[in-house]
Amino acid sequence: MTTETRPVASPLDPVALRADFPILDQEVRGHPLVYLDSAATSQKPTSVLRAMDDYYRRDNANVHRGIYALSERATADYEGARVKVARLIGVSDPHTIVWTRNATESLNLIAYSWGRRHIGRGDVIVLTEMEHHSNLVPWQILAQEKDADLEFIPIDDDGVLRQDVFEVLLRLKPKLVSFTHVSNMLGTVNPVEEMTRRAHEAGALVSIDGAQAVPHMPVDIGAIGADFYSFSGHKAMGPTGSGVLWARRELLESMPPFLGGGDMIREVHLRRSEWNDIPWKFEAGTPDISAAIGLGAAADYLMALGMDRVRAHEQELVAYALDVLPREVPGIELYGPAADQRGGVVSFNLPGVHPHDVAQVLDRFGVAIRAGHHCTMPLHERLDLSATARASFGVYNTPADIDALAAALREVQALFGG
Ligand code: ALA
Repeated sequence: MTTETRPVASPLDPVALRADFPILDQEVRGHPLVYLDSAATSQKPTSVLRAMDDYYRRDNANVHRGIYALSERATADYEGARVKVARLIGVSDPHTIVWTRNATESLNLIAYSWGRRHIGRGDVIVLTEMEHHSNLVPWQILAQEKDADLEFIPIDDDGVLRQDVFEVLLRLKPKLVSFTHVSNMLGTVNPVEEMTRRAHEAGALVSIDGAQAVPHMPVDIGAIGADFYSFSGHKAMGPTGSGVLWARRELLESMPPFLGGGDMIREVHLRRSEWNDIPWKFEAGTPDISAAIGLGAAADYLMALGMDRVRAHEQELVAYALDVLPREVPGIELYGPAADQRGGVVSFNLPGVHPHDVAQVLDRFGVAIRAGHHCTMPLHERLDLSATARASFGVYNTPADIDALAAALREVQALFGG
């Protein structure tokens, strides 16, 4: 359901779609902008910008509080966005969608709220070597505080998780298995349904970091069967400051609040309080209303495109990049699995040139990529790399963008004597 590409009748037309993204229509240093950093943050379509602008121009008022027209409209749009996002990810109960600022906050919420109640001395949490720091550091903090153990599923040399080692780690009877759906550095698409099933058979709960999956492929949370699923809105065509934690209703109901304050309570007395229903129990204070509304518009946009078509388009781009780059850029080192096992991410190095220099020279040609450790320092250590350059794709990218990347990389090589 989440990892396969089904045949699609009408492929996306990225050239036509680019008209929806005004930012792409610009020159950078005298060259047309080639934006290849959607894994860091996606560009936003006009419909998202307009939804947020409309909220501030027409409806700006606090939610759940005012008994007047503006507040009622703001509340309806804020809660309506929850319904749209639920639909995008196959969730039937919108009240199991908690608004957060990003996937990082969602994962921290799980660690602080569920983790502090359920993890104790000697308990095992299984993670993987390919996790983003946001799915490592909260568990390190928790494990240090509770004297719990972290174990890691290693990767093989193609950047694929070692399922045989996972099997062995499950014999430790972990309380939680938390892993990424799609690696932000290698692009590896993990077999989430299968891993979730095996973790459940071993008695563990499952938390999935979907930051690099939800924007790029069909995600059906019901079909995956996990207990927690997190993602960021800003990578999914929504605004920064929008994020989602989904969890099973019983879990959210039993978990203590993460932050205390207004809106997350039903009653407050001087010495005790009663919590609001979910999801508001986890949404203390005035939320980022426009961000939620913008993410709702982004969910509408993605659903109108069709996530099958998005996935098919990005897989074509990855296959094209993995074919063209080694032919056009002699000596380039590529990391990660074959095109059919990865999302729209290609990390690479040019031997003898630091990735920061690569990115800086590419910028002179209007090509925007990311360079560094991509918040995956342990993964880079495992691969014996200090840093990589990374091109990542979105619906608005075309094969011509990859040709522009290849041409600019040849310029880098010429400059550095390659
Ligand atoms: N996590 C984002 C990335 O991979 C920022 O670039």
